[in-house]
Amino acid sequence: MSRTEGLLDEIRKLKVEKRAVILSHNYQRDEVQEIADYVGDSLELSRKASTIDCDLIVFCGVHFMAESASILSPEKTVLLPEPDAGCPMADMIRVSGAREVWKSFPGYDVQPAFVLPHEFTLRDMKERYPGAPVVAYVNTTAAVKAESDICCTSANVVKVVESLSSERVICIPDRNLSMWAQKNTKKQVIAWDGFCHVHDRVTRDDVFKARKEHPGALLMAHPECRPEVLELADHVTSTSGMLRFAGASDRMEFIVGTEIGLMYRLRKENPEKLFYPLRKDMICPNMKKTTLQSVLRALKEMRSVIKVPEEIRVPAKRALDRMLEIK
Ligand code: 13P
Ligand code: SF4
Repeated sequence: MSRTEGLLDEIRKLKVEKRAVILSHNYQRDEVQEIADYVGDSLELSRKASTIDCDLIVFCGVHFMAESASILSPEKTVLLPEPDAGCPMADMIRVSGAREVWKSFPGYDVQPAFVLPHEFTLRDMKERYPGAPVVAYVNTTAAVKAESDICCTSANVVKVVESLSSERVICIPDRNLSMWAQKNTKKQVIAWDGFCHVHDRVTRDDVFKARKEHPGALLMAHPECRPEVLELADHVTSTSGMLRFAGASDRMEFIVGTEIGLMYRLRKENPEKLFYPLRKDMICPNMKKTTLQSVLRALKEMRSVIKVPEEIRVPAKRALDRMLEIK
């Protein structure tokens, strides 16, 4: 038996023994997606976490995702195999407290053109716009969700904004997703200045270059990309939205404007079609931290338990539930 087969075998045995379910985000490494019971986008995984029958959830994703699973299923033990797998964008907003300035992304050639003025907090923003409900992208900490009125994902942000009675809404933390929502609603969207360093690095020139290299391909882009990039896309949607779009389309070639982990499922589910990354360096280092070894270690040692305290969990769940009620 090869080393990988041995690892897979051990994971499978422990999964049965511990009544565990492995959830994987679409951006995870190929082999992690392969061992998972469910692979999906943020919305699908939130729904799954709340309905699944098991004792243990191993969440192959980033910290806020495991927190969401713990919020929705407090009776289950939730493990995040790599405890340091965070989302820099989620950490760009805090409820209150000390000022923090986002400086750079170590190890990256491309740095954001932007340094966040983090002298504001979510509470400051709420004070500045009294009465405006807060829509929190799921890419936020549990504490931020607890201070928000409703959550949204990249798949349902417009629906969520439209579901609110107020004419003015605060959208946090992704400025690009907020601008996308603004483009698709008549309500006034007040955006926070956060961004995803993986998606925000894409420029119009990247699109022109990719289109020149693949003239017959359709461009799918994630709403975390900049507005000027989304303007050039044929379809703007979440990761699973891209899977549905490419699967249903009669076109054969697609440029993929999101983290390259999605390419694995796109190619697997559409072996006759061709997929090209919009940029080869659209890689989320945090999503790639989880390996088969870390999944096995987590299952064996039951380490990296994510447990949201009740005083945060209850209000955060309210915000997630309000989102999940929207069809
Ligand atoms: P979804 O399209 O799955 O919502 O994910 C985007 C993302 O960046 C999650 O971190
Ligand atoms: Fe966060 Fe972007 Fe990575 Fe998603 S891809 S986890 S938004 S840094």
